[in-house]
Amino acid sequence: EEGLHPPHYPWSHSGWFDSFDHASIRRGYQVYREVCAACHSLDRIAWRNLVGVSHTVDEVKAMAEEIEYQDGPDDQGEMFQRPGKLSDYLPPPYPNEEAARASNGGALPPDLSLIVKARHGGADYIFSLLTGYRDPPAGFEIREGMNYNPYFPGNAISMARVLFDGLVEYEDGTPATTSQMAKDVVTFLNWAAEPEHDERKKGGLKAVILFSTLTVIALYVKRFKWLPIK
Ligand code: HEM
Repeated sequence: EEGLHPPHYPWSHSGWFDSFDHASIRRGYQVYREVCAACHSLDRIAWRNLVGVSHTVDEVKAMAEEIEYQDGPDDQGEMFQRPGKLSDYLPPPYPNEEAARASNGGALPPDLSLIVKARHGGADYIFSLLTGYRDPPAGFEIREGMNYNPYFPGNAISMARVLFDGLVEYEDGTPATTSQMAKDVVTFLNWAAEPEHDERKKGGLKAVILFSTLTVIALYVKRFKWLPIK
């Protein structure tokens, strides 16, 4: 059974020439880190990917260094722990799928790297899912450990509501309402799924300027050349 069709939201990056809202990506990273990262990995994002997108290089280096990574083997064939570097990928919450399922009542929290692209409805769907938890309608039987959400296919999801007003404290002073956090984390996840988005649109704008200029020149030359032949 399909979930409720999500409304279409006016994402600030959805226009032909619009780039992502990078302040929102930065806040969204914070929501991912402080809330979602407890259960969801983000396998395809390395620390260096955040540089110049949401954080400065020094900020990212400091964030990476707070995490211990397993490395090796060294000269003696030993594995060792070392602080993270820009080239490391964001750390997963669980060592493997069994551990992930064991902690989530048998359900698997999917990797979020491509989730905005992978789910029908994309950003609108994930925003609606995160903000759409409510009491089930009368007569809807919900299993122990499952949660009612009209946007999720089947309407019973094993992820409970995770966003509540004031859950995080934004450094830029933005009030952390449930919908603000959902918007920011979805913007962050949308960037993660399409890191080339801004460059692609900049390229599109350049192409439009270039080809319209060429068209104007071509029309002018054509009229000029044909003038004596009338
Ligand atoms: C599923 C996002 C936090 C556990 C999902 C899905 C998304 C998502 C997009 C996929 C839904 C689908 O299949 O259509 C997020 C975001 C979070 C967050 C953005 C932070 C704001 C958490 C946390 C936990 C968790 C903290 C664990 C306590 C799960 C589980 C599923 C899931 C177990 C699988 C649900 C099922 O298939 O029934 N989440 N999540 N999530 N999430 Fe989260």
